[in-house]
Amino acid sequence: MLVLACKAAYAVAPPVRRPAPALRDRPVTWSNPQGRTLTQVHDDVWLAERPFYPTLPGLQNTDVGCKACVIRLPDGKLWVHAPVALDPELRAALAEIGPVGHIVTPNTEHQKFAPSWILEYPDAKSYACPGLREKKPEIGWQSSLAELLDGTDGVASAAPPAVWGGALELCWVRDQVPLTGALGSIPFFNEVVFFHRPSKTLIVTDLWWNYPRETSRLWKFGMDRIYKPVYNRLMRTESWDASYSTIMNWDFEYLAPTHGEPVAADGKAVLARHLGYE
Ligand SMILES: [Fe+2]
Repeated sequence: MLVLACKAAYAVAPPVRRPAPALRDRPVTWSNPQGRTLTQVHDDVWLAERPFYPTLPGLQNTDVGCKACVIRLPDGKLWVHAPVALDPELRAALAEIGPVGHIVTPNTEHQKFAPSWILEYPDAKSYACPGLREKKPEIGWQSSLAELLDGTDGVASAAPPAVWGGALELCWVRDQVPLTGALGSIPFFNEVVFFHRPSKTLIVTDLWWNYPRETSRLWKFGMDRIYKPVYNRLMRTESWDASYSTIMNWDFEYLAPTHGEPVAADGKAVLARHLGYE
């Protein structure tokens, strides 16, 4: 009875980075501070944390990090967001917690490893961010996340598939002003964000990032002085506001980004500040 009560109390608490286990199976880096192939942050949430060094001049020695988020759905299958490189250690670690059932490519930037996952797990369902499947049909994504949207006009709300067991919600965030000229007519931002209800986790790819205080000045400058004003001004369209509103109506506390350390509480305030709504 006591065990059940503890379990129930834990289920509503926000996830936090748990104490580092004695066993480390990867180098300890800023991007993988616990040196693990899979880092558990909640009963049903793991992060596959890896270093990532951009090829951009001046940033080649800066580890900006990269994380896949692995969710165990109510049916026991694993839902993998923004997959990282699939190596034997990761395959083995995943096999210990459940079968890979869903492979999600949330934006166009984090698609590099999707093909190897789709090949490795042919029974898994695979989803591409809106527009990507049509652009690269050879990769073999089974469906587009666009098919889950309620409307065709880029509306924020979407209907998660029943096979996700009611554990996840999704919302498409994009700017609706196609950039022209040198950048072509491709919209600047196109990402689907997810809310994992049992852990109160908002899973974001590039919508929010979290670099360390002592980060390289170039990275900080690029993100804060170039990207952030674009997010907060150029992309603030009606559809952007609608997406933001949908996200903020979710009851999340924890922010799990692809780049940087997760935030274990007050995720809403952090996101609101970052996107210039506060
Ligand atoms: Fe990214």
